[in-house]
Amino acid sequence: MSKLPHPIPYQGSKRKLAPMIDRYLPRGIGTLYEPFAGSAAMTIYAAHHRRAERFVVGDSLEPMVALLRSIVEEPERTSARYGEVWRGQREGEAGYFNEVRDRYNSDRDPVDLLYLICRCVKNAVRFNRDGRFTQSVDKRRLGMHPEKMAAAVLGVSHTLRGRTEFRVGDWRETAADAGPGDFVYMDPPYLGTSIGRDKRYHQQMTQEELCEGLGELRARGVPFALSYDGMTGGREYGPPLPDTLGLTRLLLHAGTSSQSTLSGRKEETVESLYVTPGLAEPVAGVIRPEAAQARLAL
Ligand SMILES: C[S@@+](CC[C@H](N)C(=O)[O-])C[C@H]1O[C@@H](n2cnc3c(N)ncnc32)[C@H](O)[C@@H]1O
Repeated sequence: MSKLPHPIPYQGSKRKLAPMIDRYLPRGIGTLYEPFAGSAAMTIYAAHHRRAERFVVGDSLEPMVALLRSIVEEPERTSARYGEVWRGQREGEAGYFNEVRDRYNSDRDPVDLLYLICRCVKNAVRFNRDGRFTQSVDKRRLGMHPEKMAAAVLGVSHTLRGRTEFRVGDWRETAADAGPGDFVYMDPPYLGTSIGRDKRYHQQMTQEELCEGLGELRARGVPFALSYDGMTGGREYGPPLPDTLGLTRLLLHAGTSSQSTLSGRKEETVESLYVTPGLAEPVAGVIRPEAAQARLAL
């Protein structure tokens, strides 16, 4: 799929969808903001393809931002320390992972977080409300090998160093200085209205807060794209956004649901991408990678 470096194997990362989302980005972006960065897959993709002059990467989870900063600004130190933590483990034992997890929960060291993300079940992070990491070890894997990590860290640093600003905090603050010549890509946590608290993230959001913030961006004329809700086999995960925001909703093919595959049914997973006017014509039905390619050729 892509040979882009990806040091943070974050479940829910937009790594696979980034090329499809990229088709809706305007040309000549001043600063690309990613205020719900996580592993910053969209920023990495856009930087690699020179889609913006500068990048602002933010997340409300402080150690995640510290990790991204450490990857970009101190690549050698980051991969050396990851190698040390990784080499401390032995196959088949959970004790070491739990030690690193306890250490992370008291010191919040970003490279300890990277090791936990790499070694935990399905790379699916879980945090409680206090930001403590609660996911368990995947005993069958050792996590990304230090050599592969070093190459990925160096690759990301190479593309983003000197062009990227890191911000910790709420998405609205991170994007507060975005203007009409910039672009904001947002991938908030699913709103837990119908599925309860989403334990992947330490912080929850309401649709009201989201819409208020989007309204502010619209009022300032800032172009943006928002990955919002998803759908598997026709079951929706979130309520659609109000028409008053004037956004175009596109449905992107995001793969087949692993849950459904396990139970023998192959169901398509679809994700909404809401974009501001002028970035896309409304499209009926699901946009698949080939269709997005054909659209480019028009
Ligand atoms: C779905 S993940 C983003 C994944 C990302 N697109 C990637 O490629 O890895 C959502 C992120 O938003 C962060 N977050 C949750 N609430 C937030 C808020 N109010 N402001 C900023 N970030 C927030 C979480 O810590 C999490 O990293």
